Amino acid sequence: MKTKNVEISLSQAAHRYSVEIGYDLLRNSGSWAKSCLSPGAQKIVIISNAKIFKIYGETVRKSFENAGFEVFVWLMKDGEKYKNLRSFETALAFLSERKLTRNDAVIALGGGVVGDLSGFASSVYLRGIAFLQIPTTLLSMIDSSVGGKTGVNSSFGKNLIGTFHQPNAVLIDVLTLKTLPRRELTAGFCEAVKHGAISNEGLFHQTAGFLNNYKIEKYKTLFSNQGFIENLSDLIHAQVSFKAEIVLNDEREDINRIDSKSRKILNFGHTLGHALEKVTGYKYFKHGEAVGYGILFAAALSKKLDILSKNEVKSLNDVLCKVGGLPETRNIDLKEVVEAFSFDKKTTGKTLQWILLSGIGKPVIVSSREIPQSIIEESLIEVLQK
Ligand code: NAD
Ligand code: GLY
Repeated sequence: MKTKNVEISLSQAAHRYSVEIGYDLLRNSGSWAKSCLSPGAQKIVIISNAKIFKIYGETVRKSFENAGFEVFVWLMKDGEKYKNLRSFETALAFLSERKLTRNDAVIALGGGVVGDLSGFASSVYLRGIAFLQIPTTLLSMIDSSVGGKTGVNSSFGKNLIGTFHQPNAVLIDVLTLKTLPRRELTAGFCEAVKHGAISNEGLFHQTAGFLNNYKIEKYKTLFSNQGFIENLSDLIHAQVSFKAEIVLNDEREDINRIDSKSRKILNFGHTLGHALEKVTGYKYFKHGEAVGYGILFAAALSKKLDILSKNEVKSLNDVLCKVGGLPETRNIDLKEVVEAFSFDKKTTGKTLQWILLSGIGKPVIVSSREIPQSIIEESLIEVLQK
C-alpha cells in the first residue's frame, strides 16, 4: 500500500510539517525521523508506556539505532491520571539527565496521553526542542497528534496547563490499531463521527459508510483484508485533512472567533462529554465515549431549537449506533451534570458557548443565554435516560 500524506503549513509559526499515513511503517521510523529532523540531531528520547512499548517499542528503537541515533527510553505510567505535573517533571528530568541539546528530539510513541505529555515536555525543555508523534490509538491518529495542543491535567482541571507546540512530523502506522482494545476503538470512532458531523457531508458519509461496512466487533480479523486497510487509511487521511484545515485557519483557537471554521468547533460534543467525565470521576467513560453522548445531546438540543432536522438527528443516531456500544448512563445524576457544564466556562469566558448543528457539516456556536434551561434538561433526559 502506498503511503498518503497531509501537509500542514502554518503561516503564523512559519512551521511546516507532514503527516505520513501507511501500513507497517514502524520498521522504517528511524529513517523517517532522519529525514524530518535537523542534521545535527543525535540523541532521541522515546516516551511511551510499558504496555505500548512491549508491543512496538523494540521495532522503533532498533529502527532509530539503525538510522544512527543514540536512543533513550522513558516509560510513563499508563492512564489519564498520569498525564499530570509529576510525570511532566519526571520527563523533564529524564531529558536533562540524558543531556539532550536543542538539536535533539523527543518521540511520542502511544495514544493521546503519551502525546500530550511528551509534547508539553518537549515544548518547554530548553525552551522547546523537536518533537515527533507516532500515534497508536485511533483518537490520537485523527485528533491529538495533529494541531500542536499539548498539556497535562491538574487540580485546576483537565488539560488546563499546556502549550501550543507543533510536532516536526507525524507517522501514522495503521497496523498498530490491530492491538487496540475494542473500547478505545469505539472512543476513536466517536471523535471520527464528531469530525464528520462538523466538517461536510462527504466526511460524514465516508465515516458512516466505513462503520456500515466493517463491524467494530470484528475489526481485529480484518487486518488481513487489503480493502479494509485501504479504506481505513483513506478514512484516517480524510479525518487528518479536516483537522489540519481547521488548525491552519485558527491555530491558537482565537477566543473571540465564533464562525464555523473556528478551532472551537472541534469541541462539538465536548461540553456534555467533559461534564460526564467529571461527574463519573474520569473513571467510567473513555473520553471519546463521553463525546459520543455529547454529540447526541448537541443534536437533540439543535433539534429542539428548530435548527436541525429530524432526519439529520436520525443520521447522527444511526451512525453512533455502529461505533460499538456506549456505557449505560441511566444512573447518572442530571443535576450534577448541569452543574458540571460550568467547567467549560474556564476556557471560553463568562458564558458557556455551545457548539450546535444547523445541518451536517454546519456547526454553529450558540451562547447559553440563548438556550432555555428547560430545553437543556429535556434534551439531557432524552439522551441519557431513555
Ligand atoms: P490513551 O493515550 O490513554 O490510550 C488509551 C489506551 O490504549 C491506553 O491504555 C494505552 O496504553 C493503550 N494503547 C495505545 N495504543 C495502543 C495500541 N496500539 N495497542 C494496544 N493498546 C494501546 O487514550 P487516547 O484516547 O489515545 O487519548 C486520550 C487523551 O488525548 C486525553 O488525555 C485527551 O485529553 C487527549 N486529547 C488531546 C487532544 C489534543 O489536541 N492534544 C485532542 C483530543 C484528545
Ligand atoms: N481536539 C481539539 C483541538 O485540537 O482543538
